[in-house]
Amino acid sequence: MTSADSLFDFERPPDSYAVMGNPIAHSKSPQIHALFARQTRQRMTYTAILVEPGGLAQAVGNFCASGGKGLNITVPFKQDAFRLADERSARAQLAGAVNTLLHREDGTLYGDNTDGAGLVRDICQNHAGMVRDRRILLLGAGGASRGVIGPLLDERPSQLTIANRTADKAEILADEFSALGNIRGRGFPQLGGNTFDFIINATSASLKGETLSLPEGLLAGNGWCYDMMYAREPTPFLRWAALQDAAMMLDGLGMLVEQAAEAFYLWRGVRPDTGPVIAQLRRDL
Ligand code: ATR
Repeated sequence: MTSADSLFDFERPPDSYAVMGNPIAHSKSPQIHALFARQTRQRMTYTAILVEPGGLAQAVGNFCASGGKGLNITVPFKQDAFRLADERSARAQLAGAVNTLLHREDGTLYGDNTDGAGLVRDICQNHAGMVRDRRILLLGAGGASRGVIGPLLDERPSQLTIANRTADKAEILADEFSALGNIRGRGFPQLGGNTFDFIINATSASLKGETLSLPEGLLAGNGWCYDMMYAREPTPFLRWAALQDAAMMLDGLGMLVEQAAEAFYLWRGVRPDTGPVIAQLRRDL
């Protein structure tokens, strides 16, 4: 970790950080971390590195050998990063995936997963939303969903239902987390007749412009909807939410910035003010 004093230590090169993924060209992480660094006066660089399939270990090794201090890891390498880490945070262990690596002074790699914390901070801090004692429906049973289940259960919802087009996957995922809270897995048709206070979309359907086939009447009065995807226009899921009269409709831009802020805090020991950064990214969409 480097103190702000190093801002004036021009003898040393700036600490270097990067995001690795494939594809990577459209990643907003370099812009987000540049804004954080400027705001908190940290002397550091942050670049985007395209990694070929199967090439993460080599790429991380090269980056660390050249003095790199930390990495964000995105699709499709979060599980590979999990295996590469010498030690992992409890939340990374639960997620089975790592999106942040810290290259420690002793040469070892510490792996964390900041995705779920980013979602919870966006809901609870940025929007004063409530998860505690609420009935939460989480749509999807892939990596995006798995990464946020632990942090959502930490907020003590009255129940967390995982629903997936392929029901088995939701049931298996719910079983895996059953010791941590009131959680169940369902297929979409089985949701009929239930209502939820908060519906979170963690499927990749919005990315593909697809709408989910959900039963009517799922959202309770004053219910909120959150799409972990974001776009300039409302996503298909948020258009569905509008038709359900959702009291609040949020996309994943805040989560993106918040998960980055958690990584920045792990690396630099400083927590950036995310509000202006979210606003800037929203303007640039
Ligand atoms: P990610 O890491 O982004 O979660 P993933 O592991 O490929 O990606 O998972 C994608 C998720 O989106 C899955 O839950 C998938 O449902 P299935 O398990 O039934 O495939 C869900 N998904 C993608 N497109 C969908 C669609 N059009 N309707 C419903 N669910 C969809």
